[in-house]
Amino acid sequence: MNLYQQIALNLRPIKLKRFLGSLYYSRLRDRVERRFSPPQPQDDLVAPGNLLTSEPVNNGAKLKFEQAELEISFLTPDFVRIDWKPGTLPVAYAIAGDDWEDVQTSFENNSDKVIISSSNLKVKIASDGSLEFANPDGKIIRQELPPQRQNEAWKHQGQLYSEEHIYGLGERAASLNLRAQPERSYKMWHYDAGGIYTSETDPLYLCIPVYLGLHQQGSYLIFYENSYLGYFTFNEEATAYFEGGALRYYFTIGEPPQLLTRYAQLTGYPVLPPRWAFGYHQSRWGYETEAKVREVVAGFETHNLPVSAIHLDIDCKDQFRSFTIDPDRFPQLSDFNRELAAKNVKLIAIVNPGVKKDDNNQLYREGIAQDVFCKLPDGTILHAPVWPGMCAFPDFTNPLARHWWSRQYEYLLDLGVSGFWHDMNEPGVFTLWGDATLPTPTQHFLEGRGGTHLEAHNLYGLMQAKAGYEALREYCPNQRPFIVSRSGWAGLQCYAWTWTGDVETSWSGLRLTVPTVLGMSLSGIPYAGPDIGGFKGNPTPELYLRWFQMAAFLPFFRTHSANNVKPRTPWGYGEEILEITRKYLHLRYRLIPYFYTLAWEATEKGYPPVRPLFWHHSSDERLWDVEDEFFVGDALLVCPIVEEGVRDRQVILPAGDYYNFWDDTVFAGNSTIKLEAPWEIIPLLVKAGSILPMEAEEKLILHLYSPVGEETSFANLYSDAGDGYKEWRLDNFEMRRYADILELVWEQTGDYPFGYQSLQIYVHGLNVEGAWIDEKEVKIEGDFWECQPFEKIKFKVN
Ligand code: NOJ
Repeated sequence: MNLYQQIALNLRPIKLKRFLGSLYYSRLRDRVERRFSPPQPQDDLVAPGNLLTSEPVNNGAKLKFEQAELEISFLTPDFVRIDWKPGTLPVAYAIAGDDWEDVQTSFENNSDKVIISSSNLKVKIASDGSLEFANPDGKIIRQELPPQRQNEAWKHQGQLYSEEHIYGLGERAASLNLRAQPERSYKMWHYDAGGIYTSETDPLYLCIPVYLGLHQQGSYLIFYENSYLGYFTFNEEATAYFEGGALRYYFTIGEPPQLLTRYAQLTGYPVLPPRWAFGYHQSRWGYETEAKVREVVAGFETHNLPVSAIHLDIDCKDQFRSFTIDPDRFPQLSDFNRELAAKNVKLIAIVNPGVKKDDNNQLYREGIAQDVFCKLPDGTILHAPVWPGMCAFPDFTNPLARHWWSRQYEYLLDLGVSGFWHDMNEPGVFTLWGDATLPTPTQHFLEGRGGTHLEAHNLYGLMQAKAGYEALREYCPNQRPFIVSRSGWAGLQCYAWTWTGDVETSWSGLRLTVPTVLGMSLSGIPYAGPDIGGFKGNPTPELYLRWFQMAAFLPFFRTHSANNVKPRTPWGYGEEILEITRKYLHLRYRLIPYFYTLAWEATEKGYPPVRPLFWHHSSDERLWDVEDEFFVGDALLVCPIVEEGVRDRQVILPAGDYYNFWDDTVFAGNSTIKLEAPWEIIPLLVKAGSILPMEAEEKLILHLYSPVGEETSFANLYSDAGDGYKEWRLDNFEMRRYADILELVWEQTGDYPFGYQSLQIYVHGLNVEGAWIDEKEVKIEGDFWECQPFEKIKFKVN
């Protein structure tokens, strides 16, 4: 699109003032870039040169090369930190765990190699600075070329096995295996595609320099603790390029679950969200008045559709200003919130980081007085246009700015708002051309060390999320924070959820959802979901329905859309769609104990609830490219319909046995099967051996999916008050199948009392001839048993 077309396009939807602001800013940004960071001549790439000295140190070794220094530090026997210098070390924003135990390492200095080994990992350093990582069996998991330095930048390459697959890099509109598109360069630079993105768009809002490599010798995870602008490509080699900083990275080997645990140990375990967050969220840019929101909530009530939260977009604000509510359109917000609370509906308010430049704006005046806004190198405050007009941007890398920002949440919390939606925090601004963010020479405090936007850009949303999280912890100490943040970085899981942004309303947009969410899972971001139906556009009833069915199994289950499209609710598409969406909404609410237990598991192990097929089957190459199926936990295998007009689909099954959720047919795994998918069905399987906890009407419902052979399996159920930090309980189940018996043994820990009036047990896949609860025979009536908590239930089966 040329400039004139851009201008014509922009003139239509945005007002003249916004257009002029964007024009002014685009020129200002270019001037600032030219003045403060003019293009530098690129020096040649410099390799480390020859190894000069090496010495063992605690947990690792230090090596000196002619042009670089290298430090190897083991954090655990399978987890190592590699530091190549020179270069400024990062501020540890992403690092949560630093109390690592000492690791026994041995140091060998052969004529051409230094070898540092722990019990689980061997790192061999050649005299030219190339590295090799091997597992205890001697299998080479990764080989690296000597890194190269060019001015302030680092280029780092690993040789890839021919079959190797690569996953991660945060949020990507790409195939799940990033190497499937070897011509693509993945940029590390949070970016707002401006209202729409497609499978061609890169980068998106949330880039993280972490990836998982999988090949026949094993799997590994590498995380570069470097927030600078960067680029990754994956062809013969995996190449990472960063425009500055030290080359610091962390490397670990193991099966995918173990890799994600290590990553969480380093960057922080996800925090436990409030339980209501796993319900359904309804949103729209266009809920302009209290009356409109009331009407939407009433629609859910009259149609017997559960809803847990309504999200208020920028239209709730006074002239789009941060931390305001339009007094005319939302005149009684605290009363309204009370009214909603009585219906168990929470209100989530949007918060944008830009602070309107206006001397009548108290927030702006305060920000100036406290000196918390980002400045240019000449000391002037940087202003750029966003929704309210010209805005200043808090420097969230300044603790003072974070603290000041945190205080602003109090106003909305006092009005009864339950959670926050951080948008435009890449930060995104309006431009007519070029990069839609702050100029790269913009100065940042970086905890006192100082630096430019080149380093701080990718940290901006993360540090805003931290400020928001701390505000909620402080003002509502008895509630767990709920924040959804469009941008972030490694560590976002400690503060916020995210969503996949302004995805195109199309079948291709729907198809992108699974690889994008799975890619985030494998980058340590556990809670994500799409705008159901896509952001800008009117989905056909079929597209809306298929998107809704898929999202019913993703952690963040939200419909959202732009302000210029038709309202999007389950009752807007006719009776048939309404009935089907109702069925999925109710199913989702029945599954909340399962989702909540997965959330608890994330806090303990760092496992994302949504998992790729190879999660437990990493050596099965058939599964490496599957990007239209996903596991939710270990029990549910979801196979969404992502093509128009399709009424059945092929399903690739990993090893094990699987029940069709809808009719209990059993399929042997390691196979490809075909499943029917009329409009009302999303193909859904349950792994044999699973205990699926559900709930309905104050009852806990345990679905026992019996193993096909003689086998023992385990499951947990986590519960607590649903919010806050008080008692919890963990119910542990052991299911054993032997001879003609299926047995379930139940133990529990924790102080939270059993939260249900009774329970129901369903046995799937077997005929039950007799049942004993705690050794007392009970009658068989119908296909389930209703009872009170027990220690053991035994079924005689055939
Ligand atoms: C961009 C966000 O991605 C979108 O979800 C939101 O509706 C608009 N900003 C308006 O606030």
